[in-house]
This record gives sequence, C-alpha cells and structure tokens, in this order.
Amino acid sequence: MSSELELLAQIGLNFELSEEHRMFQQVVREFAQKEIAPVAAHYDETGEFPWETVRKMAAMGLMGIEVPEAYGGQGLDAIASALAMIEIAKADAAHSTVMSVNNTLFCFPILTFGTEEQKRKYVTPVATGQAMGAYALTEPQSGSDAAGIRTRAVRKGDVYILNGRKSWITNGPVADYIVVFAMTDPEKKHHGISAFIVETDRPGFSRGKKEEKLGIRASATCEIYLDNYECPVENRLGEEGEGFKIAMTTLDAGRVGIAAQAVGIAEAAYEAALAWAKQREAFGRKIGEFQAIQWKLADMRVKLEAARLLTLQAAWKRERAKRTGERYTLEAAMAKLFASEAAQWITYEAIQIHGGMGYSREMPVERYFRDARITTIYEGTSEIQRLVIARQILGLKTSL
Ligand code: CAA
Repeated sequence: MSSELELLAQIGLNFELSEEHRMFQQVVREFAQKEIAPVAAHYDETGEFPWETVRKMAAMGLMGIEVPEAYGGQGLDAIASALAMIEIAKADAAHSTVMSVNNTLFCFPILTFGTEEQKRKYVTPVATGQAMGAYALTEPQSGSDAAGIRTRAVRKGDVYILNGRKSWITNGPVADYIVVFAMTDPEKKHHGISAFIVETDRPGFSRGKKEEKLGIRASATCEIYLDNYECPVENRLGEEGEGFKIAMTTLDAGRVGIAAQAVGIAEAAYEAALAWAKQREAFGRKIGEFQAIQWKLADMRVKLEAARLLTLQAAWKRERAKRTGERYTLEAAMAKLFASEAAQWITYEAIQIHGGMGYSREMPVERYFRDARITTIYEGTSEIQRLVIARQILGLKTSL
C-alpha cells in the first residue's frame, strides 16, 4: 500500500475524488466550456431546442452515464453522474435539464423496474442519443400531490387504454418515449397507480403548446394528451399498482441530479462574481477590497461548498443503495433543498455584486439567476423536500 493510501486508511474518510472521477470530471468540464458555454446565451434568447449540442453530449455518452454498457451506456456510477451534472449545469442549466431527464427520470426507472426487453428496446436508444426520453407524473390539478393524478389506464385484453392530460413535461416536445403514470384502480388511491412506457408516434398521443419559461428556456416543456391511447401490456413498467413507488424511487434519484444542477449554476455565479470583484473598481479601489463584497463572497463560497458536500454525500448514498437496496430519500431531499436554496441566494448576490451589469443580458449572471429559480420547484418543491425530511427524521408515515 502506498503511504498516501495508508494515511487515508488511517483517517477513514476521504474527501478526494478518485483518479477516474477526476479524469471524467475534467473531460466533461472541457467539453462543457468549449461546446456548451459559448452557445448558452443564444439558446436562452431564442428558446430553441439545442439539438446540435445535445447530439454532441449524447456522442460523449452523457445521456446514459450510469446505464450499463450492454444497453449502450457508460456504466459509470452515481458520483460520476453528479460530477457531470455540475459541469454541464455550470456551462448551461438547460442542457443539464435535458441530460437529467434522459438519465434519471427515463433510463433509471426502466433499468430498475423494467424487463430485459424494455431495457433493450427503450433504454438503449435513449442512452446512445438516438431517441429522447421523458417522465410524465404531474397533471394540471396535481403537482405536489402526486398521488392525486386522474389519468386513467383501463385494461382491455392485451392493451391498456390511456386517457388523460399531463403538464410540465420536460423534453415533452422532443420525446420519443415517455414513462407515464396513470390510475389503474382509483379506489386504491396511490396503490392504484401504474407506470407505462408510451411511444409518442402512436395514435392517441398528442402534445400541447411549448411552455414559455422564465429560465432553462432551451429545455423544451409542454403538456401531453392521451386520448384512447392503446398501450400494450408489455409496456407496463413494473406490476400493476406499483407506479407510485416507481415514481417516488425515481424522484429520489432525480433529486440528487437537481441538487448537482443547482451546485453547477451556483458555481458559475460565484466564479463570475469573484472575477468581477477582482476587476471592477469603485471609489479608487477594486470592489473586492471592500468588506461588504468580501463578506458576500465568503458566504457564497461557504454555501456552495456545503451544497456540494451534501450533493456528493447523496450521490454516494445513491451508489451504495444499488448494492444494499436501502433508501436515500433523506439525503436526496436534504441535498436538493439546500443546494437549490443556496443557488437562489448565490445567484441573487452575484447580480448584486455586478450592480447594473448584473441586471444586463450582456452578462450571464442574470441567466444564472433565472435558471436557478426552477431548482426549488421541479422534482419536488422546497416545501415538499422539508415535508419529506421531517417525515424521515421523525419516523412519521405521514405529516399531511
Ligand atoms: N421511495 C419509495 N417509496 C416511497 C417513497 C420513496 N421515496 N416515498 C413514499 N413512498 C411510498 C410510501 O412508503 C408509501 O407506501 P405504502 O403506502 O405502501 O406504505 C407510499 O409511497 C405513499 O407515501 P406517502 O403517504 O408519503 O404519500 P403522499 O401522498 O403523502 O405523498 C409526497 C408523498 C412526498 C408529498 C409525494 O407526493 C411527492 O414527492 N410529491 C412531489 C411530487 C414531485 O416531486 N413532482 C415532481 C414532478 S416530476 C418533475 O418535476 C420532472 C421534470 O419535468 C423535470
């Protein structure tokens, strides 16, 4: 054993990334800064879907980071996923949203609950970038109350007939396949929810208008409609009635990704503010020489590092769960809550440090501020994260 490894073994806790993780992080960082950062403002302005850069991300394997090589993925771990999310989000949050949906909200539930046939047919094309995935849980009347969905799936022989409306579907306008949650037995409430893999080129599937959003504007979002859509029984994901568990398990994984996204946005804002403080002068001095600015930068750095540690802890727990099967609901919710709220504050202060220039579209900080806003809302609001955390630490079944 080398002396460095011996030392680490004695300490028993290691905050260093492994050599493999560091190399992967460096490759993604270089790609993100070279290919994505320069086009981020353009796609934010136009709201167009960034097909060209998304295809480049797919060619790098970023749409199937944890997907086993047998299904076209990179076969890496949850830490690598978090590191990639941070780097892509730092360059552009919208690109990281597209990546997050494909990796975690689409591939993850099929890999975890799907059949061999479903993995081959649906995970492989998404992981290799030949197709786009999405996840449809939310409905107009049920966002936070995920068990309150009304979309119905009625079995008729070898098919389920799906009817309903899903809203705020990220990747909806471009998705080839969508994991859709529907009620198979409304009497049983959340135990009556089932999950289905829907192909968007089949009759009975249609899309609403694209949403015009405050931030992550290049990631496409829309409503989707199911009108007597015939879903073959072999496209049911998991057992009948297992849908709510699938939805929640998937969101645990997704929340680690959103925490990483928030860290990436916050890091971009912090670095921009730090550079500005070193360069901008007022009253004959660099503004970074004033205590008012120093304290802001110090607090930004502390919140950023705390958010990163909580996020990597949750990613580590998520990786360990693949072997132990234990839940990491608490760690995922804590990471998402803290990192998303830290990103609000850090991007707000980054604008404040930039003064008028921070409010201008000439600089990227106003985009970081707008993009950060969604992280306290999607994949469970901050209020829902607090509820989840409280239930976990108090050992309550419900706090509603
Ligand atoms: N993992 C596994 N099972 C879970 C679970 C988890 N994390 N959380 C709950 N469950 C199980 C419970 O054990 C329970 O099972 P049993 O009844 O068999 O004992 C069952 O699910 C019901 O649990 P609750 O009583 O806690 O359910 P609830 O109705 O009170 O709701 C909630 C819980 C936490 C509020 C949940 O509804 C929730 O997370 N809401 C937020 C929804 C959300 O995040 N939506 C985001 C949409 S997706 C999105 O934003 C994607 C995008 O486009 C980018």
